Amino acid sequence: MTTSAPRNTASRVHLSQGFMGDSLSANLGVGKDNTTQGARRPRSGAIIGLSTRRFLSMFSPRYARITDRLAAEDSDVWEVHERALALQRDGVDVILLSVGDPDFRTPEPIVDNAVSHLRVGRTHYSPSLGEIKLRRAVADLETQTSPHPCSTDEVSIFPGATAAIHAALTCLMEPGDEIVIPEPMYVGYTPIMQALDARVRSVPLDASRGFQLDIEALKATVSEATRVVFINTPGNPTGSIIPRGDIRELADWCLRRNIWLVCDEVYSMFCYEGKHFSARASADVLDNIVMIDGLSKSHAMSGWRIGWVVAPPELTQRLGFYAGATLFGSPQFIQDASAFALENDQEYVQRMRDEYRLRRDFVLHRLRKVETLTCSRPHAGMFIMCDVSGTGMDGRQFAHRLLEEQGVSVIPGEAFGPSTRDYVRLGLAQNRAVLKRACKRIRDFCEDLG
Ligand SMILES: Cc1ncc(COP(=O)(O)O)c(C=O)c1O
Repeated sequence: MTTSAPRNTASRVHLSQGFMGDSLSANLGVGKDNTTQGARRPRSGAIIGLSTRRFLSMFSPRYARITDRLAAEDSDVWEVHERALALQRDGVDVILLSVGDPDFRTPEPIVDNAVSHLRVGRTHYSPSLGEIKLRRAVADLETQTSPHPCSTDEVSIFPGATAAIHAALTCLMEPGDEIVIPEPMYVGYTPIMQALDARVRSVPLDASRGFQLDIEALKATVSEATRVVFINTPGNPTGSIIPRGDIRELADWCLRRNIWLVCDEVYSMFCYEGKHFSARASADVLDNIVMIDGLSKSHAMSGWRIGWVVAPPELTQRLGFYAGATLFGSPQFIQDASAFALENDQEYVQRMRDEYRLRRDFVLHRLRKVETLTCSRPHAGMFIMCDVSGTGMDGRQFAHRLLEEQGVSVIPGEAFGPSTRDYVRLGLAQNRAVLKRACKRIRDFCEDLG
């Protein structure tokens, strides 16, 4: 899709026509107030002042194709959410269940820690790979949760998991290379793949099996052109956890085919049933293993922008070159506070995890009474997938009508992939009082239909 290119061509034609066809005085707007005329635009190029005209007519902007690819991203994904925000701005009482941003405040000790580091002048450049203190805290965490000791040479820090994923894939793939990903998948992966010009081959997850990954189906999707297999456990939006044995098998299978296994684990600290095993903890050999994690969810620090990659030392070194070229380090005081957060997180991560679990059970208990809805029970994460086909609608129709008729905003399942087009995703980043009102509205909506 080329939203910008045709627009540019059109404006070029329009301007040059005006320049050649109009009288000079009209072009110059001699004796007239160009500003006022400019404000009356834009039926003819003649009303644009000369200096502006010359500047524009001599410059024919060209853009990198990446901008077209990104502009082509399916804006429908956020359509319901955007509409919900617009309604809220107009004063309508809307409950947002469409966000994945934790409603909790960042725990106070982390905030205090950041402020104290600000006050002692930790406000300078920092190494491209990240502050050693934070890299060590991540390495220690990985060492504790896996049989493989992890060194700081394997850790690189980025401003959020999104940047970490983008950097890792940039260092692993050429444009046009193939990446295999299970779907439904996190909506944020699509723009990253588009930025990289990656060819995405998706593997549908089977809803009837709790959205568990079918390893054989994934293997069958891999081709000679596949450079990376990308998994997400625990998964957004499904909340399913890939068992350790499956990750181990996949890691080994990929290793033998010279394929990287990249694993996004940003929900690793929010498991309710079953245990999360990281790709490092599961794999026997780490040569092809790349792990992504961050603090946005686990520590309610989405706005602080801290994520990381754990990868073999050579890839880490290359990530350092890439980070040096594109980021030149993340803020020192944020990294200091992030190291503190990782080293002192037992109590508050546990508290948030317990609260999300309560919210999950609370919502499931209420919505399972609605006959036309079938809600999956996520084992992890902060979302519930709900099959709405019993209402006679697909996820998109349901989401639009629910918003307009009851003021509850959810994400249509097709945003995550074709296999969940009959679903909507409900977020748990609201307190239980709000969730109670939201469930009541959803129930009323479904009952009114029927
Ligand atoms: C699965 C998954 N990965 C990555 C991210 C992005 O995390 P960050 O805020 O660290 O960029 C999200 C955010 O919702 C996510 O759900």
